[in-house]
Amino acid sequence: MFLKNAWYVAAWSSEIQPKLQQILVLSEKICIYRDAENQVIALEDACPHRKLPLSMGRMKNGGIECGYHGLTFNAQGQCIWAPGEGSIPSKAKVHAYPVHEKYDLVWVWMGDPTQADPKNIIDIPNFDNPEWGVNQGAAMDLHCNYLLMCDNLLDPTHVAWVHQSSFAQPATKDVPLNVTHTDTGYIVHRWMMDAEPAPFYKKVVEFQGNCDRLQHYEVRFPAHALIRAVFTPAGTGGVDGTLHEKTFVMDSYNFMTPITETETRYYWFQLRNIRPEDEAISKLMTEDVQHAFEEDRLILNAVQIGQDEKKVPNIDLAIDSGQLRFRRDLAAMIAKEAALSKQSNDQPDNQTDNQQTVHWHKSVNDMKSSVSLSKTAACKAPSMLSNLECITNPAMWARAEEQGGSEAKNPRPSSGQSVVFSGSGITVTWEESNTSLLELAEQNGLKPDQSCRRGICNSCKQVLVEGEVEYFRKVLRQPAENEVLLCCSRPVGRVVIDL
Ligand code: FES
Ligand SMILES: [Fe+2]
Repeated sequence: MFLKNAWYVAAWSSEIQPKLQQILVLSEKICIYRDAENQVIALEDACPHRKLPLSMGRMKNGGIECGYHGLTFNAQGQCIWAPGEGSIPSKAKVHAYPVHEKYDLVWVWMGDPTQADPKNIIDIPNFDNPEWGVNQGAAMDLHCNYLLMCDNLLDPTHVAWVHQSSFAQPATKDVPLNVTHTDTGYIVHRWMMDAEPAPFYKKVVEFQGNCDRLQHYEVRFPAHALIRAVFTPAGTGGVDGTLHEKTFVMDSYNFMTPITETETRYYWFQLRNIRPEDEAISKLMTEDVQHAFEEDRLILNAVQIGQDEKKVPNIDLAIDSGQLRFRRDLAAMIAKEAALSKQSNDQPDNQTDNQQTVHWHKSVNDMKSSVSLSKTAACKAPSMLSNLECITNPAMWARAEEQGGSEAKNPRPSSGQSVVFSGSGITVTWEESNTSLLELAEQNGLKPDQSCRRGICNSCKQVLVEGEVEYFRKVLRQPAENEVLLCCSRPVGRVVIDL
């Protein structure tokens, strides 16, 4: 079970090159690559024709040409060329995953693209702070469910048993834990007072003698962890402590990407508040952390096998409180998301003839206010049709973008906008599942005067009487007043089209 409406780490930025490669995230195969502008593109890795992975095809003008029969897809997943077909088959498209690069990582949004907002990627305040040093290693592959690693990172006690040569000290065995619920997840935390620093930290702290130590184990939904370690000279720590100028802080960021239900890719790095330029300490910390994480991997892989083999229920301990609450809340979020998704998928099937009739009658009333406008707008159509340019191949497409394509203000409007076809007296509701306004028109028995299906011929102009439309992520050019590029457009709000 996975939460889909969330950002996950797809790869380190350095792992994505200008070549097609397949990755697996939440059991979905994704074809990922960089285009000529260095943008990362992520498309569903299965050609809709015979399901050959697109990653076995070729990069072409920023898109992909399938390696079997040449269907060519642009970066938005739309088929823009179907060799020998005459026109583009209406279902020739693949899902385009929103991606965003931040913190040297490529983040991918696995759910509804209309909800993807890069602002919701975890905030890492000191990532670019020159006073903080960083160490990182390669991603690790764990042969276990991602929630086992989430459990591990809400469990400060395990260091006493698993990391005896690095993170453990006697107090880690039995000082009680506190659990705090936040808006984004859970924190399990405790202060351990007046103790000898654990071996890993003893090598790097800049004070002598005993310490007060904070273990802050925080996991945020869906599976991102901040493990903060604070070491301060004894007597300066604790909840009300003043801390000391030599206080050592290490923020360890951990991102678990579910590959399948039993495989997890684990990305991590640490930020420290000392000696930012010291490469020797970065190397030392990376090696020690890698060693400790190998200890975790050994345990978690074996726990997965143990749980697969033994089907009797686990017993739970008091120390598991944070993990159990995190799992409970995440399961509820996943269930809610699945229910909402099912509801919206069911809607078109549930529509009855009566409901369609209501739409029709409603449209007659709407017509009364738009007839005069449509007549005015229709007069402008002939002059627009006179200067069309046929854009039938990717090179022409690219040129059209150069000549005026611009980012739409509202790239993915949500469903529910009214679309009034004023020349026919039909009002319908646009849903995300409608591929374009053109198809919405055709589904309602209208015959737009054009043959292109995906905005690649640019010859399907219809008159926009009212409202605003956009072309997926880009518009070919800004529409002239009262003009819409119908086949490739979506309504931003209520629109009236003279058709
Ligand atoms: S399988 Fe891709 S074009 Fe036929
Ligand atoms: Fe660990």
